Amino acid sequence: VLQEHNPPQELARTLWGIQFRAPVFNAAGMYKKAEGYIRAVQQGAGAFLAGTTTARARAGNTKKYIRHPFVPYPSTGAASNWMGLPNEGHSVVAARIAQFERVPDMPIGASVSAQPGDAEGIALAGLLEGMRQYERAGVDFIELNESCPNVAGHAKNNSAQRMDDGLIRRLEFIHHEFLLKRKRNVPVIVKFSNDTDSALLPLLIDLLITLRFDGVNFGNTSTAYQAFENQIKPGDLKAYKYFTKNFGGGLSGSILRQHSAALCTEAAKLISAQKPAHEFHIIRTGGLQNGQDMADSLVAGCSLMQWYTGYYEQFSQYGNKVYDHTYKQMIQAMHH
Ligand SMILES: Cc1cc2nc3c(=O)[nH]c(=O)nc-3n(C[C@H](O)[C@H](O)[C@H](O)COP(=O)(O)O)c2cc1C
Repeated sequence: VLQEHNPPQELARTLWGIQFRAPVFNAAGMYKKAEGYIRAVQQGAGAFLAGTTTARARAGNTKKYIRHPFVPYPSTGAASNWMGLPNEGHSVVAARIAQFERVPDMPIGASVSAQPGDAEGIALAGLLEGMRQYERAGVDFIELNESCPNVAGHAKNNSAQRMDDGLIRRLEFIHHEFLLKRKRNVPVIVKFSNDTDSALLPLLIDLLITLRFDGVNFGNTSTAYQAFENQIKPGDLKAYKYFTKNFGGGLSGSILRQHSAALCTEAAKLISAQKPAHEFHIIRTGGLQNGQDMADSLVAGCSLMQWYTGYYEQFSQYGNKVYDHTYKQMIQAMHH
């Protein structure tokens, strides 16, 4: 594979014993089929995240004759989507990844979710089988998506003061059946919503560390449509109101920046107070738009950063130099 845009050496790091050439890469949902691996390598991303996938293929949402509804809010630097986890299934994507010609220091992750709508036992079995398929396919880490607002069963997890019982049972099951039985080093991180109530963080972080998970990601899209409305620029407001009323969906982009920063900062405090015996990392996702945001995330205690909406915003300006530009800004900010 031709490597055109190599990240600056000083951004390289080793996390969980795995070498990352840089700490910035795509958020889940960008390469649902693992289709963009070579592009990510050539652009200089620090890692590659495939999925989210589920046990069986899903067509995703269609409403008002629109398949996978999505709308950008270009003046605001934000977007809404109500895709509904369309995907080909764990086994198809795992088999594709197994064929990749691997590039050094460019880890591959897989984002997985339990099959929405399945009875609990079946959902857990399907999730576990998928994680094992990815383990055999050679992925370097797994991200458990507990926070898609666009399917039944994810939406209400953890936005309340109380932790969802189904979530606790899923985490315990993965602890016993996957984490304790791993055949090799495959870190598992858990991705929550950027709507997560910060009052819940002490319990959540304690649970993840106790159950021997390897990290936490804050986080996924938001459904706080009312709360964010005053941040939507006038030119985007009509589309915003139409989409959130007719489709609902998840909000992404600039408006999440404060939330992901606050959750990650608080998580970092809790983790350093708890001093876990194993390596436990914070991954920040939500509203990251430029190199300054990436540098700020490191200061806040994050080890890895993922982006989606901001990536496309920057791509529209810098094309395949998107990472070159971001890393340059990031290093400048780090030296300040
Ligand atoms: C079109 C679209 C599809 C997404 N699909 C997924 C997905 O399959 N799994 C997931 O965990 N997150 C998914 N997300 C959420 C992103 O991974 C990310 O958490 C969110 O967009 C916030 O980051 P951002 O502000 O950089 O966009 C999706 C986001 C968008 C915009």
